[in-house]
Amino acid sequence: PITFVMLNRPEQRNAMSPGLHADMCDALEALSADAETRVLILGGHGKAWCAGQDLKLYFRGTEDDPRARVRARRAAHEWRWNKLSRFPKATIAMVHGYCFGGGFTPVIACDFAIAAEDATFGLSEVNWGIIPGGNVTRSVVAVMNQRDAMYYIMTGETFDGREAAAIGLVNEAVPKERLEARTRELCKVLLAKNPTTLRYARLAYKYCREMNWEESADYLTAKNDQLMLRDPERGREKGMRQFLDDKT
Ligand code: COA
Repeated sequence: PITFVMLNRPEQRNAMSPGLHADMCDALEALSADAETRVLILGGHGKAWCAGQDLKLYFRGTEDDPRARVRARRAAHEWRWNKLSRFPKATIAMVHGYCFGGGFTPVIACDFAIAAEDATFGLSEVNWGIIPGGNVTRSVVAVMNQRDAMYYIMTGETFDGREAAAIGLVNEAVPKERLEARTRELCKVLLAKNPTTLRYARLAYKYCREMNWEESADYLTAKNDQLMLRDPERGREKGMRQFLDDKT
């Protein structure tokens, strides 16, 4: 039940071209309805996880074609944020090698991120005369504190996987040779949970972040009620019975 989605332009260090954005939209759309996928791992083939937006094809290549630019920008936002952060199953970014600029958004959109200790992260936009757009800055705000975010946005300095874990950009950093094994261990924990409960719990977290306290309290109560009706395993009743009656 684990599906690996691999960015696969290794010669260009998985820089995100308009074509890659369109393909990722299609892939995530198909997988969101795939009954066999219960955990999605987002990885990258080759030396890099993702070298950010493709400077040649995404930026320069669409310079004289506003329609192509709009299409690429929309697809870029759609898979990296909308589709990934609201994906109906658990998601894990498994990051090795380089992760630059626009590559931060999908890392942050995933529920979890595990990095190789020697991975290289960088908000390099400042060195290209641009700011971290495409909602990179907004996603950075969601997980990094102000001091770290401003430091890396304004200096463009790179940092490794250990630092990414220390500042909360990823959950943990492990030696590169353990990266896939550790990611699979996390999948095992997730796969042992009631899938309906897991789905509701993760979406509830994401949505209630944007709500005020009153709306959130009401929403979470309603969501729990909905879960009780929708859960084919009847997990809540089962858990109560096992603990209170069967004492198992
Ligand atoms: N856009 C377009 N092409 C890119 C790219 C990007 N973001 N990143 C790498 N590539 C291409 C290179 O142009 C090169 O193409 P070529 O073989 O046709 O010359 C190929 O990928 C390999 O890159 P190279 O620099 O030789 O590999 P490396 O392993 O020595 O270094 C990086 C890898 C990622 C450190 C380096 O390519 C880099 O700094 N890329 C830009 C990263 C960045 O700042 N992205 C944010 C943009 S806002």
